[in-house]
Amino acid sequence: MKGRIFSGVQPTHTLHLGNYLGAVRNWVRMQKEYECIFCVVDMHAITVFQNPEELTKNTREVTAAFMASGIDVSHSIIFAQSQNRVHAQLAWILNCVARVGWLNRMTQFKEKAGKDRENASVGLYTYPVLMAADILGYQATHVPVGEDQKQHLELARDIAQKFNTDFGSDLLVPPNPVIGGPAARVMSLRDGTKKMSKSDASDYSRINMTDDADTIALKLRKAKTDPEALPGPDVLDERGRVKAEEEAKRPEAYNLLAIYAALSNKELAEVINETAGKEFSGFKRDLTDLAVSVLGPIGAEMQRLLANPGEVDAVLKAGAEKARAISEPILKKIENAVGFLSA
Ligand code: AMP
Ligand code: TRP
Repeated sequence: MKGRIFSGVQPTHTLHLGNYLGAVRNWVRMQKEYECIFCVVDMHAITVFQNPEELTKNTREVTAAFMASGIDVSHSIIFAQSQNRVHAQLAWILNCVARVGWLNRMTQFKEKAGKDRENASVGLYTYPVLMAADILGYQATHVPVGEDQKQHLELARDIAQKFNTDFGSDLLVPPNPVIGGPAARVMSLRDGTKKMSKSDASDYSRINMTDDADTIALKLRKAKTDPEALPGPDVLDERGRVKAEEEAKRPEAYNLLAIYAALSNKELAEVINETAGKEFSGFKRDLTDLAVSVLGPIGAEMQRLLANPGEVDAVLKAGAEKARAISEPILKKIENAVGFLSA
């Protein structure tokens, strides 16, 4: 094993194609080489108000998406953050290590809190410290995340280093970010300059992992394109990548091509060579067939699991037990280093 992976997803909405291609699918591949812990971060979700019933439903749905995508629970751990108290307990200690000045620099807080910062929850402010606790509580070595989480991982490293210096310990392991892979950024189907996102008001902007074949077909048919035919190899640079100035001219076209490439496990250049000069209508039909062939079985398995919530809950419960078995001894040592008496 090359190390221990920890990653998390918030159960705030149904997962979409961007989550699948940018995150979950890569995790499935990494299971063979790493010890993996995947966490449904419900404690992070409530930093912004969540309807309790929706939160429960979404926690099961994200778990079902992980399982249906191929996370093998006999090998990897899936659990919900709130099912292991270590996260909250370690977060408190780390809140006393992290500096206000560090948190004030977090751009995600500024974005999420918006103009009315006084009215944001304290949890939203200290969100990155809980994230550091998630990772450091398992001494995880690698953390696959999206580009937007890079700053939070830097913070986790800073917290680990300060704790180790302050307490003369080596208990906290600064984690390494794992960012990228093909289709690291899937864009909205309605606007090729915006990321495909759970929070976009229009459901036509994204393909959800639970969408059935007809819905996928409809969304791709309606996906924004331009009147020109598909580009040819002249848009590629010498390394086979689309030139930036070309991409800026037709963001929607390149997004669909990138999705096609990711779903078919091909290089983008290869897809561009194959589809050069074709009309969008035919290409969209091919893309629909491809998307349905990849997502169809996953969506069907998700539906089966969601109809059997007991099966999903049992997986989370078993996962939480394993998560506690790893993190409780680590927390004990950390508490000891701080000078807490054992209970
Ligand atoms: P989020 O949906 O923002 O909670 O992100 C969960 C995971 O999915 C993170 O690792 C993100 O980087 C990844 N992700 C979210 N949206 C996209 C997207 N449009 N393209 C690629 N990856 C994404
Ligand atoms: N903040 C991450 C996101 O919004 C989710 C997350 C919480 C996470 N804890 C984590 C990701 C620990 C990786 C490791 O995407």
